[in-house]
Amino acid sequence: MNHLVSMRQVGKDDILDLIDLAEKIETGKVHPDLSGRLGALLFFEPSTRTFFSFDTAIKRLKGRSLAMSGSGTTSVKKGETLADTLMTISQYADFIVMRHKIEGAAQFASEILDIPVINAGDGTNQHPTQAMLDLYSIYKTQGTLENLKIAMIGDLRLGRTVHSLAQALTDFNPTFYFASPRHLQMPKHIKDELQNKHIKFEEIEDIKPVIPELDIMYVTRIQKERFAVLEDYEKVKNAYIIDNQMLEDVKGNFKLLHPLPRVNEIKPEVDSNPHAYYFQQAKNGVVMRQAIISKIMKLV
Ligand code: NCD
Repeated sequence: MNHLVSMRQVGKDDILDLIDLAEKIETGKVHPDLSGRLGALLFFEPSTRTFFSFDTAIKRLKGRSLAMSGSGTTSVKKGETLADTLMTISQYADFIVMRHKIEGAAQFASEILDIPVINAGDGTNQHPTQAMLDLYSIYKTQGTLENLKIAMIGDLRLGRTVHSLAQALTDFNPTFYFASPRHLQMPKHIKDELQNKHIKFEEIEDIKPVIPELDIMYVTRIQKERFAVLEDYEKVKNAYIIDNQMLEDVKGNFKLLHPLPRVNEIKPEVDSNPHAYYFQQAKNGVVMRQAIISKIMKLV
């Protein structure tokens, strides 16, 4: 792995390798050392968890970070092209972690730069490091990634996390239930990929009947900022709201995941439900990102 741009480039062995490394880092069995190296965090779109967990990961590895959060204070504001900004930052840093609103931006960066690029989200396309921390969270709570029943709920069209996660799970024989408002269904190219790999999936509207069968429920935010017409957002913003009552008949091993931020799709009362796992999931982001940086920077 020289770059991490899309989950398409990460095979089953790589996934299991990264999970193994994250576990070893978390339990103190290995201590990859990034000292003397600089990671540039280039975030052209808002971020809390991805930005701060990458920054934390770099510092825990004893590296240093250069951070840009929002392009308002840089020469992007003066009309500098993305290519020129990237070329410049690559003169200073040893690797780049980038979030950008344009689909394919990270791929573009990886093609023009000589240093490693990690995609921290490109528009509605991919969010591979989130998928890896999601997989780590699933593995930690289920003891396996194989043969799980997983519901993905919310904005499956514009939410990039579910695209990367669905692709990543295709190596592990999942059964998927996709629940979304009609115009926010999983994109055709992802469904085609699942079909080609003979992955079982069903598009459903009502999630209640399947809840007692699930191992994992992965809820996502309706992506307001990606709607062209605000009225369209207003129509679907309350489509799915998870509360404690809906989770009364879940299996013992059931976990509720969400990449966060949440708006109103999970009621705050659920936070203290023993099946809620989204804040631990966010915590898992740090060790998984330490593992990803360690692999990409060839520290292990
Ligand atoms: C997600 C993202 O940015 O795609 N957040 C994250 O990285 N944890 C999900 C979202 O914004 O809804």
